Amino acid sequence: MPNAYISGTGYFVPDDVVTNDELAKRFNIDTNDEWIRKRTGIEERRFAPDGMGTAFMGARAAEQAIEAAGLTTKDIDMIVLGTLSPECTFPGTGVFVQRELGFADVNNFVPCLDIRNQCSGFLYGLGTAASMVRGGGYKNVLLIGAECHSHALDLSTRGRTVASLFGDGAGAVIVSATDEDRGVRRWTLGADGRFAETLWQRVWDIQRFPFIPQNEEGQGLVEPELMWAQMDGRQVFRHAVEKMITSLMTVCWQEKIEIKDVDLFLFHQANLRINEYIQKQLNIPDDKVFNNIMRYGNTTAGTIPILMAEAEREGILKPGMKVGMAAFGSGFTWGAALMDW
Ligand SMILES: CC(C)(COP(=O)(O)OP(=O)(O)OC[C@H]1O[C@@H](n2cnc3c(N)ncnc32)[C@H](O)[C@@H]1OP(=O)(O)O)[C@@H](O)C(=O)NCCC(=O)NCCS
Repeated sequence: MPNAYISGTGYFVPDDVVTNDELAKRFNIDTNDEWIRKRTGIEERRFAPDGMGTAFMGARAAEQAIEAAGLTTKDIDMIVLGTLSPECTFPGTGVFVQRELGFADVNNFVPCLDIRNQCSGFLYGLGTAASMVRGGGYKNVLLIGAECHSHALDLSTRGRTVASLFGDGAGAVIVSATDEDRGVRRWTLGADGRFAETLWQRVWDIQRFPFIPQNEEGQGLVEPELMWAQMDGRQVFRHAVEKMITSLMTVCWQEKIEIKDVDLFLFHQANLRINEYIQKQLNIPDDKVFNNIMRYGNTTAGTIPILMAEAEREGILKPGMKVGMAAFGSGFTWGAALMDW
């Protein structure tokens, strides 16, 4: 059975930097740098311009990852894409990326799979891609986490709790087969649907007939509570620390190693305070944790692959390192993974 390792990484963030003060000024939101920074660690985030969506950002990250792996689109056997901000309801965003990158070719109809697991979407995707590669059916799986949050945020004082957390961006990796003794060692995934409404964005209600009420002209009418994401932040925070800690401990126990044996931790970037709490509980020194939430906010499925690509380019993530990852988000869904880089 081959091992599955990451042969290339890439990321893309839009140019528009929106600082906390800028968020207040530009959108007339009653918030400030001190409130956001103190509670979340976020200093700024990126917003995509009108006309740029999730597939475009995912495709740019993917191009980098393919090149970094020394491959071309012809070598990619499968696209797996995680997002909570898809291009549309259907089809999935993977096919838009495939088309954007010129994969759609009569000789090469690369299959596309969308993963809808929000902030843990990348780790769900990693488990899926690694299983495919280890199963022997696929040699190179392109795994993308991409989000265009800003176009679907309630950028007003009413929506400030959620709007101050999220940013746009995409990360991509190539999960490749190897006979070398390295790569993804272990992963664990979990979900608790009892909390499905604790962090959610409905947009419509499919139980209603019709799913979106219409006016006389046939235009859809969506109430603000349906249109924008709703969150109980304190519940999310509490469950995030618990599930990220226990799932990290689970993968370490399964691998018969201790937390101290891990060289670098790449945690989901939802809130710096969540990561600091985990770090403290697990006694992890500062130089073993890499965070970038200060610069990008929460890019949901994009956080871990963006971190990975940046850490690799900055020389923080080096060959031979044992890497621990953990994420938690809407669903609730969560996961952790261990990998030898
Ligand atoms: C969102 C979060 C920072 C809010 O912090 P909190 O201490 O729980 O704050 P609360 O929601 O109780 O709000 C406290 C007050 O600040 C206000 N507030 C909320 N957002 C604000 C903002 N951006 N700027 C200024 N004030 C704000 C609230 O309106 C509230 O005011 P009130 O007391 O007058 O009603 C925190 O709960 C959190 O980070 N949770 C995890 C969320 C997360 O990670 N989500 C993504 C998961 S993948």
